[in-house]
Amino acid sequence: MSDTLVLHDPATYEQGFPHDRFRELRHSDPVSHHHHPAWERGYWAVVRHADVQHVSRDAETFQNAPHPFLAVGEDSDEAGVSGLLISLDAPEHHQLRKLINRGFTPRRVADLTERIQDRVRGLVDDLDGRTSCDLVTDLALWLPLHVIADLVGVPEPDREQVFEWTEVTFGFDPNVTPEQQLEAATLMYTYADAMCEERRDAPRDDLMSVLLQAEVDGERLDQMQIDLFFMLLQNAGSETTRNLITSGTLALLEHPAELERLRTDVSLLPVAIEELLRYVTPVMQFCRTARVDTEIGGMPISAGDRVVMMYPSANRDERVFTDPDRVDVTRTPNDHVAFGAGGPHFCLGASLARLESKLMFQAILERFEGLEVDGDPQAMPRVNSNLIDGFAHLPVKWQRLK
Ligand code: HEM
Repeated sequence: MSDTLVLHDPATYEQGFPHDRFRELRHSDPVSHHHHPAWERGYWAVVRHADVQHVSRDAETFQNAPHPFLAVGEDSDEAGVSGLLISLDAPEHHQLRKLINRGFTPRRVADLTERIQDRVRGLVDDLDGRTSCDLVTDLALWLPLHVIADLVGVPEPDREQVFEWTEVTFGFDPNVTPEQQLEAATLMYTYADAMCEERRDAPRDDLMSVLLQAEVDGERLDQMQIDLFFMLLQNAGSETTRNLITSGTLALLEHPAELERLRTDVSLLPVAIEELLRYVTPVMQFCRTARVDTEIGGMPISAGDRVVMMYPSANRDERVFTDPDRVDVTRTPNDHVAFGAGGPHFCLGASLARLESKLMFQAILERFEGLEVDGDPQAMPRVNSNLIDGFAHLPVKWQRLK
C-alpha cells in the first residue's frame, strides 16, 4: 500500500510530474495499491513500460467501462462520461470508432496541412512588434482549438463560445463547479444538435457532415453519439496538443545543444517530436477495470479492480529507454506511450497532433530569434489536473521575430 504519493490529487502535479518518486516506484513497487476518495476498492498504479503495454493491449481482460477517468466517481455518469468513445468496449467501441474513422482518414488530416500552416503563420504574425508573450495563451492554445473547429466545421464567430465551454467542461479551473461543467456540456450538445440540423439536408465539407452521413454495416451515429463525440474531440484535441507545444518548447530551451541540432537540421523534427512526446507526456494516465481475476507483473489483481496506467513513468522506464531523463532529438527507436500503449483506444488524433506540432515547432525554431523563458519555469503555474500535465502560463521573450 503506497499512501505517500497521492496520484489522484492534482496537487501532486503542481510542480510537474514527480519523476524521482516514480523512478523509486518502478524500482521497488511497480504495481502499487492506492486509496481513492470515491472508489471503494481504490486502484492499482502501473508504472513500468512493459506492464502499461500489457494492460493497454489486453482489452479482453481490462475494460474501459464504466469510464477510464481517475477524476470521476466510481460508476457515476457525471456529465455523460460513460457514453464517450473512450469509455466504451467492444463491440460498441469498435463499431463507433469505425464510423468515426470515416471522417478521420489520413487523407482528411493531410488535407488540413495548408490551413494549419496558414493558422500558424497568422498566430505568429499577430506577435509582430512584440518581444515577449505568454506561450500558452498567446500562441499554443489557439492552434489546436482552431484546427478542431476547422475540422468539425464550427464557424469563426461561434468559436470563442465553443472554446469557453471546452475549458469549463474540462474543469481545470478549481473554481468551476460540477454544475457549471454539466451546464457547459449541455450547451455544447445543444450547439452540436443545431450544427447537425443545418447539415442534415445540406452537407458541407466538414467532419460534422461526414459523421452525419457515415454508415457502417447499415448503422449510423445517433444524435447523442455525435454530441458526445463533438465534446470529446474538443477536449481531447485541444487540451493535449497545446501542452506538447509549450512543454516541448521548454524542454528544448532547457537542452540548448539539442535545440541547436534541430535548428541546423529541421528535417529531424518528426523524430524530435516523438522524443518530445516521450519526454513531456501531456496525458498522464488512463484507467482500466479488470473483468476477471488476473495478474500484472506477478501481482494478483481481482475482477472489478481499477488499474491506472502511468504514461509519463512508462516513458522514463530505464528498462526501455537509455538515459531516459535526457532529451535526445535523434532517439530511435522510440517506443513511447504518449498516445497510449497500443490497443483499441490508441489516440485517434495522433496523426493530427503530429502534423500540428510539426508546423508549430518549425515556426518556433525558424521565426523566434533568441527565444528564452521569461522567469523561473519551476514557478510557472500548471494546469490543475491529474490527467493533463502542462502549464497554465509560460511567459517567454525573444530578440527579434523573423
Ligand atoms: C499531443 C497530443 C495528444 C496526446 C498526448 C493524446 C493522448 C491520448 C491518449 C493517451 C489517449 C488514450 C489512449 C488509450 O487509452 O489507449 C488518447 C485517446 C484519444 N485521443 Fe488523443 N492525444 C492527443 C491529441 C489528440 C487530438 C489532436 C485528437 C483529436 C483530433 C485526439 C483525440 C482522441 C480521441 C477521440 C481518443 C479516444 C480514442 C478511443 O477511445 O478510441 N487526441 N489520446
